[in-house]
Amino acid sequence: MTNSCQTPGGRHQLKARKVRFDLDQTPLHWIPGDALASYMTNAIHLLLPEGELWFCRVYNKAAPLVTDAGLRDDVDGFIRQEAVHSRVHTSAQSYLNRHDIDCEPYLARVRFLFKTLLGEAPFGMKFLQFKALERSWLVTRVGIIGAVEHFTGILGQWAMDNTSWNKADPVMADLFKWHLAEEVEHRTVAFDLHRHLCKTRLGFYVSRQLLMAFVFPLFIYFVFSGTRFLAAQDKDPEVRKIGRFGFLRMTRRMERCGKATDHVPAFSFLVKATLRWLSPSFHPITEGDTRQALDYIARSPAAQRALAEAS
Ligand SMILES: [Fe+2]
Ligand SMILES: [Fe+2]
Repeated sequence: MTNSCQTPGGRHQLKARKVRFDLDQTPLHWIPGDALASYMTNAIHLLLPEGELWFCRVYNKAAPLVTDAGLRDDVDGFIRQEAVHSRVHTSAQSYLNRHDIDCEPYLARVRFLFKTLLGEAPFGMKFLQFKALERSWLVTRVGIIGAVEHFTGILGQWAMDNTSWNKADPVMADLFKWHLAEEVEHRTVAFDLHRHLCKTRLGFYVSRQLLMAFVFPLFIYFVFSGTRFLAAQDKDPEVRKIGRFGFLRMTRRMERCGKATDHVPAFSFLVKATLRWLSPSFHPITEGDTRQALDYIARSPAAQRALAEAS
């Protein structure tokens, strides 16, 4: 089943691609000689499965409120794509287990975030389910997804432009690039849904700024703490030192790594992208190249295999 999505050239049909990735031969440091970048990216396998399932739960609840048929199609397509992303990253957790990484303590923190803090009734606060507040809490969570999707979209475009992973493990590089290409492909959906559900333009602007002030530090916290958590289990004592990096040291190392090797984006790249969000005229349509993302998907080995199996 296909769905449509806004692009500079009109509307684009979104579809879920049922891909599989065989990570049996993938080393733990999948970016050779760069443990920090390998762990920073591998932390995504811990964060996203629960996070993207939460996206699907919130969107399934918000979908009946959508009165625009095109946007409703986008939302359905978004849910289908995110559900596949969640499954792919869940299966990547066995790759980490195979390398003697115990994921569970960190996964418990992620579950707390998405099931307790951002669930239907955080900390048992049942009043959020009263009619008057239920919609506001739902729209708030839709807005949080909009802010998160700003990062997945800009990271997606960064990955489309990136060539430094050409020397890395090809299966893991394809996994991230395929996922990030789909993030570029559906980058407008979360923003458009949040705007659609806000009653006024001013309310939408204020809400998306307040929510970004919550999401940016939280996103950085989870990526950095995931990196530390994984690196602390490395067999090499030198690499295990990453597990004790504080916020400033991690930021400096990320900036240096981004500028010197492009294995991960520089920290300043994320800050600049967050500043662009402040503009009242901001729209994610200008933050990525849909054609470039679809070109990657067309040559992605996993997506090609999925297409062949489906036909
Ligand atoms: Fe995703
Ligand atoms: Fe997404």
